[in-house]
Amino acid sequence: MAYVRVGAARSISLWTLILGCFDIAGLTPASSVTAESLDMVKVSAVSGGDATLPCDTRSPQPADVLLLVVWYKDDVPIYSYDGRVKGPTAHWADDVLAGRARWLSTAPSSLRIRDIIATDRALYRCRVDFKISPTKNHKIILDVIELPEKPKIYDDLDKEIVGVAGPYREDTNLKLTCVVSGGRPMPRLRWWRDEKLVATLAPLEDGTRISMLELNIPKLTRDFYEAVYTCTADNTLLVPPLRVNVQIQLYLRPLLVEILAREQPLSVGQTAELTCRAVGARPPAMITWWLDSSQLAKEAIQKDSEDRNETVSVLRWTPQMGHNGHTLTCRAAHTILDHTTIETSMSLNLHYVPIVKLRLGSKLNPNDIEEGDDVYFECVVEANPPAYKVVWEHNGQIMAHNQRAGVIAGPAHLALQSVAKEQSGRYSCTASNVEGDGRSSPFNLQVIYKPVCKNQHTMVVGAAINEPASVKCDVDAFPPPKNFQWTLNNSMGTVDIEPSKFTVDNIGRSVLTYTATTESDYGSLTCRATNMAGQQMDPCRYTLLPAVKPDQPFNCTTLNLTDDSAELRCVAGYDGGLHTTYIVEVWETGNLIANVSSSVPVWKLDDLGSGKALKLYFYAHNARGRSDITKLRVHTLSRLALHTEAKTTEVQIDRNWLLAAIAVAVCVLVATISLALWARRRQHRPMQYEAPIQTVKAYKGSLHSTHHSPLQPDDKNPDVVPLGKDFHCTHDIERPPEPPPYGAVVSPPVGVSRSAHSLQHDVRSNTPHTPNTPASDAQSIGTLADDRRSVTSGTLSRRREVVTTRTPLLANARESCV
Ligand SMILES: *[C@@H]1O[C@H](CO)[C@@H](O)[C@H](O)[C@H]1NC(C)=O
Ligand SMILES: *[C@@H]1O[C@H](CO)[C@@H](O)[C@H](O)[C@H]1NC(C)=O
Ligand SMILES: *[C@@H]1O[C@H](CO)[C@@H](O)[C@H](O)[C@H]1NC(C)=O
Ligand SMILES: *[C@@H]1O[C@H](CO)[C@@H](O)[C@H](O)[C@H]1NC(C)=O
Ligand SMILES: *[C@@H]1O[C@H](CO)[C@@H](O)[C@H](O)[C@H]1NC(C)=O
Repeated sequence: MAYVRVGAARSISLWTLILGCFDIAGLTPASSVTAESLDMVKVSAVSGGDATLPCDTRSPQPADVLLLVVWYKDDVPIYSYDGRVKGPTAHWADDVLAGRARWLSTAPSSLRIRDIIATDRALYRCRVDFKISPTKNHKIILDVIELPEKPKIYDDLDKEIVGVAGPYREDTNLKLTCVVSGGRPMPRLRWWRDEKLVATLAPLEDGTRISMLELNIPKLTRDFYEAVYTCTADNTLLVPPLRVNVQIQLYLRPLLVEILAREQPLSVGQTAELTCRAVGARPPAMITWWLDSSQLAKEAIQKDSEDRNETVSVLRWTPQMGHNGHTLTCRAAHTILDHTTIETSMSLNLHYVPIVKLRLGSKLNPNDIEEGDDVYFECVVEANPPAYKVVWEHNGQIMAHNQRAGVIAGPAHLALQSVAKEQSGRYSCTASNVEGDGRSSPFNLQVIYKPVCKNQHTMVVGAAINEPASVKCDVDAFPPPKNFQWTLNNSMGTVDIEPSKFTVDNIGRSVLTYTATTESDYGSLTCRATNMAGQQMDPCRYTLLPAVKPDQPFNCTTLNLTDDSAELRCVAGYDGGLHTTYIVEVWETGNLIANVSSSVPVWKLDDLGSGKALKLYFYAHNARGRSDITKLRVHTLSRLALHTEAKTTEVQIDRNWLLAAIAVAVCVLVATISLALWARRRQHRPMQYEAPIQTVKAYKGSLHSTHHSPLQPDDKNPDVVPLGKDFHCTHDIERPPEPPPYGAVVSPPVGVSRSAHSLQHDVRSNTPHTPNTPASDAQSIGTLADDRRSVTSGTLSRRREVVTTRTPLLANARESCV
């Protein structure tokens, strides 16, 4: 029986409910028809909305015709419809309706009134006239509902609240009042939290036009944070209730603060990131970091989570040594709420590289440690985590525990039993843990010891009569000696030399200036130094001899011979007791191509040129004059790699090679015959092999007979000194030296020159020659006997092999070095 229509939209209501009547007071649908007027219909309409007043125009008799419909408002006609007339003139309306009404004749027929106003509230009657049937009347009561105004919310200070209430402090109470004015019938007020009803005010017809409903929250706990409360007002079901929302804002204190655990312990000097988290504060907590009671000045980076419930602060901090064991605190504070600061602390357990100190044993005086004393060191280590090893070093070298040598090295102590002067130097200890190695600063141990002569041998000093000679006394001592004592022992006896004759410098050296005036002033000198540790045990000894010119250098050899350079060395002879220079002159076919002097008999010659036959003259020179000359013939290597030379002379070389081959053949024949003859002749002679040693004897002799060289070139030095691997050079003594024209030597073939040479030696001194094989000198000497026996064919064929592995140019070089 009830039906709902959707009409044209007005601002307030779309709905008109045509249905019996409502119990306005309870807003519940009541029985539609009252008992007293069965045909009376009650219609409600919202002010400003539409109302449809039903009027049944159907006749009880089917054939009947509708003549006229007339509407009365409180028995005053206000609208009529004439069924007999077509077109708009069939409708008539009174001015009170002001064109708001319209008769709708299609079933169910009704009068529609728009824009309902309060004065439309009345009893309406619809009279229907038919042609045949009797007139019918329908009564309709129209009730106009006036909506209340939108609710307003006030706080306990009567301040209107729009949208958000607060912020309130946590745990305070809250009172909000919802106020609604107007409404007919009076509205019902209700408070909701989300969809839950929390308070209701029943409509109250007390004559006022204001309705008020309070919301009381005695304690605003954390649960009320951002809670949304809604106040609704309604007095009809025709429109949804009017509603206003309010959100409650709270200040919440922080609930929890924690320093997030780190996996690694902190290390001194290494920047670490520490994280602290605070939860539950609104607005987000302010996190601060404290070291003991002072705030860490560094700005930590603070970040709030998306829901602002959690705040994280990251501190980048470099712990220092002194911070170990101190307390690091993270504090979360509320910007508004006092006394709600919470904090958490951690005790700093910092790891660091061991701090190491080295100490000399407390009973030892570092300035008075003598040879033979026992020395103790203590290594004091401070480390976290504890050091797992301690290493001792002496002058940068790691020391091993060695009880037999008197070195007892432990993790905390080092003992040196009966310390020697070599054990002076820098001592340190190094302790290691996971953080690294900590090294102590070095301790410089100085062992005091008596002076010792640096040169253990008796030195020979040459001094000419009436010429001052300086004699150096150089000792090793700590501390450097300040006192020296010089003593002369000669045929006159033993005398101490007065201090004015010698100087003492501060590095432990004394220089005596001695002038011999007579033959008897020569003799032996001694020098003794004295320092804190005592007097030198063995004095430095000198033999004072009259100065002479030097002996010649001997045993001259080439150490390294290349195509352009040579390194030469001789053994120095007696230097005559004076400063001596050693000179080598290099001659090539009468031309001096180098003249090099040196303070020791070692020379390096460059730019000699390749493939050259050279004569070297060695001699020594001092203030008394120059020595005899030692001669050496060498041949620089041909330059194998360079073909420029070879190209220009290619044809010539080929021819030479051919000629050489023929010559070799002839010479081998001649040599074989000659050797055979010689061998037969020599069978009766005794054999002697010691010739190469003679130079040593000569040297020894030179110390005794000082004035002239004992070397008699012709019969004492006939030996052939084996030189470099491929070279075979003559070493002999002649005076005066005049380099032979060397170009001519190139041509004799290997076999011939070799044989001739051997023959020469055999004649002169019966000395077996040293074979020129690629083997070492020692081997050469060891196989002398063999070579003698097979000097003809055996040696030659061996040499031939060597030659053929080289180029023809090398063959030339070999031949010429004879
Ligand atoms: C904030 O975090 C705490 C701890 O996790 C939790 O108990 C509380 O419910 C959270 N509050 C909000 C509003 O998310
Ligand atoms: C001095 O020299 C002589 C002979 O060389 C020697 O017998 C004597 O012991 C020496 N005297 C001293 C004090 O060295
Ligand atoms: C001199 O040379 C010969 C033979 O090479 C050698 O035995 C001797 O020891 C050398 N002499 C010195 C003092 O080097
Ligand atoms: C020989 O001397 C040459 C040139 O000076 C040099 O390059 C080479 O290293 C030396 N060889 C030896 C074994 O000394
Ligand atoms: C070589 O030099 C020395 C001095 O260094 C000199 O006495 C000597 O006469 C020179 N030799 C020639 C041949 O010039």
